[in-house]
Amino acid sequence: MENLCFLNSVSLFVIMVVIVLLPHLSSAYSRPEKFYINCGSDSNVSYGQTFVGDKNASGNGNSVSFTENGTEVFENKASTAPDIYRTVRIFRQPSSYKFQLDSVGLHFVRLHFSAVSSMKELLAASFNVSATSGLNHLLKSFSLQKITVTPRVEEFLLMMDSTKFEIQFVPDRSSLALVNAIEVFSADNDLKKLPESDRNLHTIYRLNVGGELIAPDYDTLGRTWLPDDDFLFRKESAKNISSSQKPNYDLVVTKYTAPHFVYQTAKKMVEFYPIAKTKVNVTWTFKVKSNYRHFLRFHFCDILNNSETSDFNLYINGNWREDVKPSGYGPMTPFFIDVVNASDGSGFFNVSMGTKETNTFDAFLNGLEVMEVLGKSGSDSSENSSSHRFHIIAGCVTAAASALTLVLSLLFMVFLRRRRSKKTNPEVEVTVLSPLPLYNGGGSTNKRPLYSENNSPLGNLQLGLMIPFTDITRATNNFDDQWLIGKGGFGNVYKAILPDGTKVAIKRGKVESGQGIFEFHTEIQVLSRISHRHLVSLTGYCEENSEMILVYELMENGTLREHLFGSNLPSLSWEQRLEICIGAARGLHYLHNGLDEAIVHRDVKSTNILLDENNVAKVADFGISKIAVRTQDPITISTNIKGTFGYLDPDYVLTRMLTEKSDVYAFGVVLLEVLCARPALNNRLPDEEVNLAVWAMSCKSQGIIDKIVDPKLIGQIEPISLIKFMEIAEKCLKDRGDERPNMAAVIWNLEYVLRLQTIHEGSALTISSYGSLVMVSDSSERTLETRVLLPSHS
Ligand SMILES: *[C@@H]1O[C@H](CO)[C@@H](O)[C@H](O)[C@H]1NC(C)=O
Ligand SMILES: *[C@@H]1O[C@H](CO)[C@@H](O)[C@H](O)[C@H]1NC(C)=O
Ligand SMILES: *[C@@H]1O[C@H](CO)[C@@H](O)[C@H](O)[C@H]1NC(C)=O
Ligand SMILES: *[C@@H]1O[C@H](CO)[C@@H](O)[C@H](O)[C@H]1NC(C)=O
Ligand SMILES: *[C@@H]1O[C@H](CO)[C@@H](O)[C@H](O)[C@H]1NC(C)=O
Ligand SMILES: *[C@@H]1O[C@H](CO)[C@@H](O)[C@H](O)[C@H]1NC(C)=O
Ligand SMILES: *[C@@H]1O[C@H](CO)[C@@H](O)[C@H](O)[C@H]1NC(C)=O
Ligand SMILES: *[C@@H]1O[C@H](CO)[C@@H](O)[C@H](O)[C@H]1NC(C)=O
Ligand SMILES: *[C@@H]1O[C@H](CO)[C@@H](O)[C@H](O)[C@H]1NC(C)=O
Repeated sequence: MENLCFLNSVSLFVIMVVIVLLPHLSSAYSRPEKFYINCGSDSNVSYGQTFVGDKNASGNGNSVSFTENGTEVFENKASTAPDIYRTVRIFRQPSSYKFQLDSVGLHFVRLHFSAVSSMKELLAASFNVSATSGLNHLLKSFSLQKITVTPRVEEFLLMMDSTKFEIQFVPDRSSLALVNAIEVFSADNDLKKLPESDRNLHTIYRLNVGGELIAPDYDTLGRTWLPDDDFLFRKESAKNISSSQKPNYDLVVTKYTAPHFVYQTAKKMVEFYPIAKTKVNVTWTFKVKSNYRHFLRFHFCDILNNSETSDFNLYINGNWREDVKPSGYGPMTPFFIDVVNASDGSGFFNVSMGTKETNTFDAFLNGLEVMEVLGKSGSDSSENSSSHRFHIIAGCVTAAASALTLVLSLLFMVFLRRRRSKKTNPEVEVTVLSPLPLYNGGGSTNKRPLYSENNSPLGNLQLGLMIPFTDITRATNNFDDQWLIGKGGFGNVYKAILPDGTKVAIKRGKVESGQGIFEFHTEIQVLSRISHRHLVSLTGYCEENSEMILVYELMENGTLREHLFGSNLPSLSWEQRLEICIGAARGLHYLHNGLDEAIVHRDVKSTNILLDENNVAKVADFGISKIAVRTQDPITISTNIKGTFGYLDPDYVLTRMLTEKSDVYAFGVVLLEVLCARPALNNRLPDEEVNLAVWAMSCKSQGIIDKIVDPKLIGQIEPISLIKFMEIAEKCLKDRGDERPNMAAVIWNLEYVLRLQTIHEGSALTISSYGSLVMVSDSSERTLETRVLLPSHS
C-alpha cells in the first residue's frame, strides 16, 4: 500500500507535463458563466481558459469583487510552472473573493495553490477556506507543507442557493493564507438526485481507469483524470483494454459527463489469477477520511463488443452494493452508477468488482470519481450519515393491497398449473441505471434557442430540448390548476402554450418525491431515441431548480381509458376502437423492433395510450421502460417486477425475465378493455370477475362473450370480427411469453379484424369459418344475442 502514501488525504494534483499521446483537444465550448481569476496579478494569462488578473478585478466588469484586507502579492519570476502559478495572493487577515453569479445551482469551484520553496513562509502557511451558500469549511487547516506535489488543485462541486458567492480565506493564528488561481463556473444541476445535504462535494479522486492521465486541457470542464494503476490492489487481477471507437453519447451521457478518453479505456478482470479459471475480485483502494460520507460515480462503457456481456457485482468495502448490467446499454454506450456511502474507521475505501457466480464474462470499469460529501454549516458529513439511500427503487408499483393479494393468488394458480419450478432470486432492489449528464450545458443562462421548431427529438439530441423554467411557469400560468389535465404518480400534467405557440402537455414531477428522477431520466433517454407517429414525442424538458419537467406534444383527446369508461365522453365506435388498437400496436412494434436497441415499454395500459384530436393513438409514458441490446431473439432482461397490476405478464412475474412479450400480454389486456369498456382490475366485482383477463378468458371458454362486450357496441360488431378479435386477445394473454404473437402479428391480425368488420358491415348473420358459430343478431333493435361456440382447440 506504499503507493498510496504520497497521496495522503489528497485531492487532485496537476501534473504539468502535458501528455501528448492524446490525439486532439476537446472541442471548444463556451461555459454559460465563468470566472477564471489569476490571483495576485494584473495580467491575463492563458491556461486552458483565460485567467484574468485580479489586481483590477473589481474594475473589469466581470462581476467579481475582491476584498483587499491586509493582502499582498508575490511573483516568482523564476518559476517554470504555468503562468497562473507564478503569482500568488497572500492574506494575513480573513479576506474574501466575492462573485456575482448569473444563476444558482451546481457550480464547479477550483482553487489552485502553489508554494515556491524559496519562500518558507508560503510553504508553512496554514489556513481555512470557507464558502457562503450555506456551507462552511471547504478546507480546514490546509497547508501545502503536507503535500508533496504542487501545484495543487482543490475542486469542489457546490450547490449555490444564491447568486452571491463568497470564498473566504482565514489564516491560522500567526500564519497566512494564499491562493494562485480561482475558477468558478456553472455545472448545471446534474447532481440533483442527491439528497439536499449531499450536494456539496469535494473531489478526492478522479480516475481514467485503464488509461493515461488526462490533463485539464483535454477535458471540456477542465477536470484532471488520473491513471488508476496506483490504486489497484492486486496489479495482476486486471488488465488494460481500449477501443478506438468513440462512445455513443446521448442526451443523458454527454462529453460533459466524461470525455471520450475515459470511456475508451477500461480495466478488465483477468481470468487466470491465481489459479487457472479462477477470477478474483478487482479492488481499488483509496485513502479517505474515516467515517465520512462519500459520493462515488462509476463510469462504464462496454468497449469489448462481446456477445457474452453479462451482469457483474460492485462492492464497497466488501459489501455488495450494485448490480452492473451492461447489456442494458449495448456496446460503446456509456452509462454510470452513482453511490453514496460512508467510509468506515479504517481510513480506506475499497471498491471492488466481481463476476456473478454463474457468469463467465469479465467485469470492467472505465472511470471512477470519488468525492467527499461536505456537511452543511460546518457539521461534518459523518454526523448525518444516517442511511440515506437514494437511487433505489422498490421492486413493485404500489397498488391496493387487495389487488395485490388477488394478483398474487392468481399468479400462484398459474404457477401451480405450470409447475415450472424456477429458483427464485432473492428480492434484490434494482437501480435504474439512468445516467445523468455531468453537464447539461445550459440552464437559464444559456442564450441559444432552447427548443426546436420542429419538435423532433431526434433533431435535437443534445441540448436543444432544454426549456427554461421561466418559459414553463409562464406557459402554465404558474401551474394554474385551471390548466391541469391530469394527475399521476409522477406528478401533475398541465396543458400549456409555449411562447412560440406550440400547444403542449407539461408533466411536472413531484419535487419532494425524489424517486421520480429515475423515471424522468429513463423517459428522456427513451424519448430521445424514438420518433414515430404512434409514440408521443418529447418537445423538451426542464431540470432547473430541482424541477423534473417533461414537455410533450399535446394529445387533445386524452387517454384511451377515458373514452372507454368512467367519463361522459361520447362512445367510440368499434371501427374507431380498432384503429386505435392498430395505432398503439404499431407504436409498440416500433419500440420492439424499429431501433438498434429493443425497448420494452413495461407499462402498456389504456391510460398510457393517448389520442390526438383525430383520435390517432400514441403510446406514452416511458418512465419504467427498459432499453436492451438486441443480442438474442427474443430479448430478455433480468429485472425486478415493475408495471401495473392487471396488466402484469405472469411469465415475467414468475421468472423475472422481462421480454417484449410482456408488452404483448399487457396489450392483450388493453384489447379486452377496448372490447368490454371496464378496467383491467375492478375490486368491486365478484371475485371471479375482478381481473378482466381472467374473467374474459373464462367467458370465452364458456361461450358467453356477449356477457362482457361493452353494451354500447352491441349491434355494431360483426360477429366474425368479434371472434377474430377475441382470438388475438387470447393469444396475447397466453401464460407463456413464447406462445404469444409478436406485435407485427398482432398488427396484421387487427387489420384483418378491421377488414372483416368493414366488409361484412350490414350483414346480420355470418357463419364463420373460424369455428362453429351461431349468432343471432337483430340489428334493427340494436341488440345482440350471441352464442359463440368456440373452436375446440382452445
Ligand atoms: C490593470 O491595470 C493596470 C494599470 O492600470 C494595467 O496596466 C493592466 O493592464 C490592467 N490589467 C488588467 C488585467 O486589466
Ligand atoms: C483581461 O481579460 C478581461 C476579460 O476577458 C478583459 O476585460 C481585459 O481587458 C483583459 N485585460 C488585458 C490587459 O488584456
Ligand atoms: C478584514 O480584517 C478584519 C480584521 O482581521 C476582520 O475583522 C474583517 O472581518 C475582515 N474583513 C473581511 C471582509 O474579511
Ligand atoms: C479552522 O477550522 C478548524 C475546524 O473547524 C477550526 O477548529 C479552526 O479554529 C479554524 N481556524 C481558524 C483560524 O479559524
Ligand atoms: C495500463 O495503462 C497505463 C497507461 O498506459 C499504464 O501506465 C499501466 O501500466 C497499464 N497497466 C497495466 C496493468 O497494464
Ligand atoms: C460488434 O461486433 C460485430 C461483429 O462481431 C460488428 O458487426 C459490430 O459492428 C460491432 N459493434 C461495435 C459497436 O463494435
Ligand atoms: C481494503 O482492502 C485491503 C486489501 O484487500 C484490506 O487489507 C483492507 O482491510 C480493506 N479495507 C476495508 C475498509 O475493507
Ligand atoms: C468478491 O468480494 C465479495 C465481497 O467481499 C466476496 O463475497 C466474494 O467472494 C469475492 N469474490 C471472489 C472471487 O473473491
Ligand atoms: C454503505 O454500504 C453498506 C453496504 O452496502 C451499507 O450497509 C451502508 O448502509 C451504506 N452506508 C450508507 C451511508 O449508505
